[in-house]
Amino acid sequence: MSNKTKVNVSAYRKRKEAGEKIVMITAYDAPGAAAAFAAGIDMLLVGDSMAMTVLGYRNTLPLSMDEAIFHTQAVRRGAPDAFVIFDMPFMSYQVSMEEALRNAGRAIKEAGADAVKLEGGAELNPLISRLVDAGIPVMAHIGLLPQRIQTSGTYRVTGRTPEAAAKLLDDARAVEAAGAFAVVLECMPADLGGELSRALTIPTIGIGSGVQCDGQVQVLNDVLGLFEDFTPKHSRRYAELGRITREALQSYANDVRNGSFPGPENSFK
Ligand code: KIV
Repeated sequence: MSNKTKVNVSAYRKRKEAGEKIVMITAYDAPGAAAAFAAGIDMLLVGDSMAMTVLGYRNTLPLSMDEAIFHTQAVRRGAPDAFVIFDMPFMSYQVSMEEALRNAGRAIKEAGADAVKLEGGAELNPLISRLVDAGIPVMAHIGLLPQRIQTSGTYRVTGRTPEAAAKLLDDARAVEAAGAFAVVLECMPADLGGELSRALTIPTIGIGSGVQCDGQVQVLNDVLGLFEDFTPKHSRRYAELGRITREALQSYANDVRNGSFPGPENSFK
């Protein structure tokens, strides 16, 4: 499917029915969004991972609505025709239905997003239904929930016991029934990712949940090698932009210090 014209959420269900994989990646600014769109990526997620990848916070919790809107506006400017998903920041949808609706409305009206993403399972059903009834497409997100780090304690694989796997299946069915158009499955055993994908009619977008998911999402910085401390097990580095950036800046600094930059070709007569 070409992404030259913006697609409607129902197109993603058809992609699943046709057995065509859906590709999603995070984007946080205009150049990243433009590159991802030009590369034919299907969906851009303005992930709350921006808190860590571009804003320097220790986890995703401090991200504000205003910061997320600011970055989503940039993504929209960089890729006007892309399908852009706004990741609702921690505490922007938990306080009350009214506040959640208002914030999701800002994501669409102010930031130019096409849909919003919420972390959580069956407990979010009333909210998912209200948002969908109001005309806001919702992507759900179950499994490892980074916004619950202070109660879970660690970022670890979910669904490893029969009870935990059954709970994830219940959650997946619940968010589908509430009207979510797709669901992110984060960090669960690959077989469970496959089972959930077969159980649902909406597409599953996996991250660390195996190849049987209907699509995959990755964090841009991991894929480009911009985060060098380690590569998460669920990711693969397709470039070493962190090292290349550092080397380029070292060359620039050396050239300034040894007087070889600017050269005659960089100087005005
Ligand atoms: O914020 C994010 O980048 C995400 C993806 C990891 C799914 O939620």
